[in-house]
Amino acid sequence: MKALITGVSGFVGQYLEKFLIARSIPVYGTTRTKNNEKNWLPLDLMSEDQIASIIKKIKPSHIFHLAGFSNVHDSWNARKEVIQANVIATMNLFEAVKKVNKDIRIITVGSSEEYGYVETMPVTEKAPLNPISPYGVSKAAISMMGRQYVRGDGLDIIHVRPFNHIGPGQRRGFVTSDFAYQIALIDAGKRQSRKMKIGNLEAVRDFTDVRDIIAAYYEIAVNGNTGDVYNVCSGIGIKVKMILEVFLSYSSTPIDIVLDDQKKSPAEIKSIVGSNEKLITLTNWRPQIKLKQSLKDIYEYWYLKINIPPN
Ligand code: GDD
Repeated sequence: MKALITGVSGFVGQYLEKFLIARSIPVYGTTRTKNNEKNWLPLDLMSEDQIASIIKKIKPSHIFHLAGFSNVHDSWNARKEVIQANVIATMNLFEAVKKVNKDIRIITVGSSEEYGYVETMPVTEKAPLNPISPYGVSKAAISMMGRQYVRGDGLDIIHVRPFNHIGPGQRRGFVTSDFAYQIALIDAGKRQSRKMKIGNLEAVRDFTDVRDIIAAYYEIAVNGNTGDVYNVCSGIGIKVKMILEVFLSYSSTPIDIVLDDQKKSPAEIKSIVGSNEKLITLTNWRPQIKLKQSLKDIYEYWYLKINIPPN
């Protein structure tokens, strides 16, 4: 394998890059800006020509297409941007690969948000796509477009549908980071008020550590079948309220919980839990990191980060 990761500087990209390097796999990445210390190349995914010239130069065997818009809540106020960053960018990538070398395997990253409202859980890859959020619509479009390029153009594309992935380094705007950041700030005495803002605590999600997620991406890239879709999830439903309780138990300071309407989305999936049976049948992959461990690592990450004085 010779890998090219789009969006390598993002939360998931950095973990995947380290994972591949640890296995002595040559890895290149693309970002919006250049980084001379790493194998990172600047790329504007709106330019098919730029993508084509990078593919010609690097000659990857596999492309992990991680770049894109990732926040479900924010997507409601950025509908055109989401289509550009997720759908148009992916189409540009497919077109460039089609012209340069159709043998390159592309892993596209979708989401459980593609399923939207589901009736039967755990949700399998066969469930109809019924997305609600603009983000979910964009990811569903990627999976359908992938099928089109496989069947119509002979490309080698596999689509992964990760459910909620969490871990140290994830930016704020996602539930575990939002909670851990605020609690760590209060506990470290760095916020005068003891109030923390929260959104919908009743939602149920399927959480997997990012370190397990990227291991699954690798397994799928090596063993997956062209044109297939694979859920990447734990198969366990967790109420957001339980996540809050775990983080609160780390703090020795009493904290006031305040419901923030701004954290609510116009419409939201109440509950979603995935089936990982297809992935487990294909590979030896199993989630290794327990949720409690992920939450502990996330809290420690934020505690350390807020206690490091700025340069
Ligand atoms: N972000 C956030 N912040 N969410 C909160 C908060 C808060 O303070 N309080 C409650 N929530 C609830 C949200 O309303 C949602 O029901 C749940 O916590 C999870 O929110 P997010 O972490 O923002 O994730 P998401 O489920 O909307 O989307 C994530 O998972 C998808 C796959 O299922 C993202 O990682 C997507 O990129 C990913 O595709």
